[in-house]
Amino acid sequence: MSRYYLTTPIYYVNDVPHIGTAYTTIAADIIARFHRQRGDEVLLATGTDEHATKVLQAAQFAGRNPHAFAAEMADRFRLAWERLNVAPDVFIRTTEERHVRAVQALFRTLREQGDIYEGPYEGWYCVSCETYFSAEEAPEVGGVRPCPNEPRHKPLELVRETNYFFRLSAYAERLLTWIRTNPEALQPAFRRNEVISFIEQGLRDVCITRAAAGWGVPVPDDPSQVVYVWFDALINYLTVVGYPDEPDQVARWWPADLHLVGKDIYVRFHCTLWPAMLMGIGLEPPRRVFGHGFWMIEGAKMSKSLGNVVEPVRTAEWLAEVSGAAPAVAVDAIRCCLFREMPFGEDGNFARASLLNRFNSDLANDLGNVLNRCLSLTAQNFPEGAGGRVPPRRTEETALVEPAAAAHARVTAALEVCELQGALTGIFEFVSAVNRYLGERAPWILAREGKREELGGVLYHALEAVRVATVWLIPFMPVAAVEMRRQLGLAATAAWDEGGDWGLLAPGAVLTAPRPVFPRIEKKALQAALQAPETAAPPAPGKEPMETAPALSPAPPTEDAAPEGIATIAFEDFARVELRVAEVLSAERVPKADKLLHLRISLGAEERTVLAGLAEYYQPEQLVGRKLILVANLAPRKIRGLVSQGMLLAAEHGDRVSLLQPDQDLPAGSRIR
Ligand code: MSP
Repeated sequence: MSRYYLTTPIYYVNDVPHIGTAYTTIAADIIARFHRQRGDEVLLATGTDEHATKVLQAAQFAGRNPHAFAAEMADRFRLAWERLNVAPDVFIRTTEERHVRAVQALFRTLREQGDIYEGPYEGWYCVSCETYFSAEEAPEVGGVRPCPNEPRHKPLELVRETNYFFRLSAYAERLLTWIRTNPEALQPAFRRNEVISFIEQGLRDVCITRAAAGWGVPVPDDPSQVVYVWFDALINYLTVVGYPDEPDQVARWWPADLHLVGKDIYVRFHCTLWPAMLMGIGLEPPRRVFGHGFWMIEGAKMSKSLGNVVEPVRTAEWLAEVSGAAPAVAVDAIRCCLFREMPFGEDGNFARASLLNRFNSDLANDLGNVLNRCLSLTAQNFPEGAGGRVPPRRTEETALVEPAAAAHARVTAALEVCELQGALTGIFEFVSAVNRYLGERAPWILAREGKREELGGVLYHALEAVRVATVWLIPFMPVAAVEMRRQLGLAATAAWDEGGDWGLLAPGAVLTAPRPVFPRIEKKALQAALQAPETAAPPAPGKEPMETAPALSPAPPTEDAAPEGIATIAFEDFARVELRVAEVLSAERVPKADKLLHLRISLGAEERTVLAGLAEYYQPEQLVGRKLILVANLAPRKIRGLVSQGMLLAAEHGDRVSLLQPDQDLPAGSRIR
């Protein structure tokens, strides 16, 4: 048994989880599950990066204590991953005490040996991507220096301070030697040259502290400075394995087997700064760093600041609704489709149409259909209770034995090198081969002709083929694959090698009555589902995202939506909405926004800011002291540079709007059910 330690980036908590961060996290989960099935001792770590300036700013905008804000956001990441069937072994937050200790220990070690020194710093800083740039890297355009990296090219800030520097320049040769002697370390291979040329262009020492005490890890023995967020964040990979307190654990797990990251943070941070920091403290660089491509939305980079973010949990809920699949199966379908469309290293365009088409073609028509057909024919011809019994094996049937062995080898080899698309191609080509086999051997005709022995042989062969495929599908679709296995009368888990063995299905074993796991989406539903845009409309040029939609409700129903046209929801759906009594503490108009009021409200234990489109209906002073109803667990929205943390409920009729309020005086914060 070997050990396998893999990591995702730790995500900034100023943003909610989206399809991009989910992409890396699901990929890591797939690879982790593959290794667990192989019997490896696996450590999958993910977490949150909390000391960024933009996190502090988001908390300040929201009028929140940054620790409470970060904790709440970290929980949202945890929950999102759980709902996406991701099972990390460790969730690390950079504000945890153990991590602060690790950062300070590493800092001290490097400073004591002269790799960290003090000096004057003058340079350009992007708060959005938390990166320093030299004047050459970020040339001036029209009096400002736009960030060369950030999608909206926000102006950089000039920073002039006395800071601490990490002697990165001293590591250039060692880094190049590492890369050249470990050709497998930097993946995909085409990114390796990018790293080599970045290093060969000359490495400058990096400024690794900021003179901004308060939010960040204090520099040891100099609390007037905090450690630069990237220097802090990268160390999480060591904190997870017990650095600096548990050297035995560090020795057990280090070097990490795989850092999975997006291409945005690959060259500069994960393939240059981080390996140099590790070399500095006498540890080996990671065994592999994989930089995957980016999902774009309708050709544009997806980002919070562009307002075109796709939320994976909501997308899964939508897919469940459109297809009728169980919610966890819809999640699995997304897990699978995200990696089916494009090679893992390359960029792709996220489109719901492709998701639905893939769902129908791969999952409903191919995979689901093979399982259903085989189970139904078996139940009809080899009945036992509601389902059937696995028919006897017939040695004459061999058509799928070779293809299964070849697919097993292909899928295994692909997963070993993170070629997730390659693995899925292997799986679905095999599933198509099974479908073709069924078409050729036509068991329904054999049944009609009463050729029972032959029929049994064909059904055994096809059922066994589906069993083999479920073994490979477990990492991608942990819930759906287990449901398929349940219908086949198999145990939920399977060792990876069972995918390479033919004939494990026991003749005579009892099967379950077939129930479609992936219901086919009918044409009408498909067309209706594709009417809506990919995400909320992107903001008009030059406008802050979402400022054009400060309505009372984020998605107001169209005027002619009749109540009987509204879909019913389960009680659990309603129960997910947290409604509270909110007392208005202050209210004022928002300059240059005719419709908006800026309210401070109290929920008893907590105060919040709410932006409401009420200015046409209420004078600010009419609202102060009123107790209203707030939707308290809506994702915060940025409107005109302010973050709105909830939505007030109001009834509307024609052009009249009336705020809802309890008919008795209840304390602020009271729950509404
Ligand atoms: N906090 C740093 C990482 C520190 S790791 C020691 C950070 N955080 S982030 O929240 O901005 O996450 C960036 C990562 O999210 C990317 O590297 C990638 O893994 C993932 N993605 C973000 N947007 C993405 C897409 N549009 N498409 C694919 N992955 C994307 O950077």
